[in-house]
Amino acid sequence: MKESINGTNRVEMTFQNFPENERIGRTLAAAFAAVLNPTMEELSDFKTAVSEAVTNAIIHAYPESRGDIVMVMERVENTVTVHIRDFGVGIEDVEKSMEPLYTTLKNGERSGMGFTFMEAFTDHVEVESEPGKGTSVSLTKKMGGEKWNIPVN
Ligand SMILES: Nc1ncnc2c1ncn2[C@@H]1O[C@H](COP(=O)(O)OP(=O)(O)OP(=O)(O)O)[C@@H](O)[C@H]1O
Ligand SMILES: [Mg+2]
Repeated sequence: MKESINGTNRVEMTFQNFPENERIGRTLAAAFAAVLNPTMEELSDFKTAVSEAVTNAIIHAYPESRGDIVMVMERVENTVTVHIRDFGVGIEDVEKSMEPLYTTLKNGERSGMGFTFMEAFTDHVEVESEPGKGTSVSLTKKMGGEKWNIPVN
């Protein structure tokens, strides 16, 4: 088989809602996208968006317990989609939760800007959530312009 990055790739991982795992999610997503030769700005924006989604799953999904977070990364040609899924409390009103400055954690530590950053720094954000069942956030971003389309050998 001719080696090339044309076509699709998929990597999946499951981790628990420990704060230290935010870094693992963010770093792995960056490594997954690196084959596209993204610009520094594209990569930094992508990492910020992934970080916000993973952080949300870590801090909001399981308020009183440990729980699993599944991260699926898919690349179709030069477009990467990261799905971050939890099986936690879910979101009552998704539309409202995505408004700038909206937060349910009122202890002053959160600014309610996570979803706003995800939307600003990717091409597409999709949120599906069911109270008591969990939340799935999908982030899609095209990266690397036309540079990606070069056979590896
Ligand atoms: N995975 C999730 N499970 C349950 N609730 C969530 C999840 N992700 C987001 N939310 C809800 O959506 C709200 C808005 O999320 P957003 O990331 O925009 O703000 P925040 O996390 O409260 O603050 P910030 O991201 O600025 O620190 C959260 O306050 C929370 O109520
Ligand atoms: Mg947040």
